[in-house]
Amino acid sequence: MYDNEIKRVLVSKEQIARRVKELGEQISRDYEGESITFVCTLRGGCVFFADLIREISGDVEIDFIAVSSYGAGTKTSGEVKMVKDLSSPIKGKNIIVVEDIIDTGVTLSYLKRLLASREPKSLKICSLLDKPSRRKLEFEGDYIGFVIENEYVVGYGLDYNQKLRHLPEVCVLAPEVYGG
Ligand code: IMP
Ligand code: MG
Repeated sequence: MYDNEIKRVLVSKEQIARRVKELGEQISRDYEGESITFVCTLRGGCVFFADLIREISGDVEIDFIAVSSYGAGTKTSGEVKMVKDLSSPIKGKNIIVVEDIIDTGVTLSYLKRLLASREPKSLKICSLLDKPSRRKLEFEGDYIGFVIENEYVVGYGLDYNQKLRHLPEVCVLAPEVYGG
């Protein structure tokens, strides 16, 4: 299935599960005795988010935010707009933003500035994937699952034109699909 769209599996189900568990343990240790509000960035972060929060021991709240920086396909527009804001105020709270991937850094730079202006107690970024070679803005995540090369990936929440988010692994999209 999906043989035409997928070039190869980059990160397997087992590798993801192991790393998500490690990140959960690390975060639980770092925030011992503190409560954390996890902010899921829709839509790409949702699968990672759902797995990660179940690896956290301690007091957890969740919220959701949606910003969009991508046009259609695999090219970024460079602009970020708010699509759905958080449901609750974050002032004085420990916030961890959970994202699918840091690519150019445009989205998270915007999001981090926006959330910081609301005066949380702390603000950290957790991303499943990081593509440092693609940065347009200097940006560093605090918790990273996997650093990857400059290849367009889908699955485990990540899409190509809103499709393939449901694949259980992180896969490299076949370049023929987007003419790369
Ligand atoms: P940035 O603003 O360029 O850092 O990109 C942020 C968003 O672009 C991510 O949250 C993804 O939704 C999307 N994106 C970047 N690279 C990929 C990819 O390889 N596959 C799928 N989505 C991607
Ligand atoms: Mg995204």
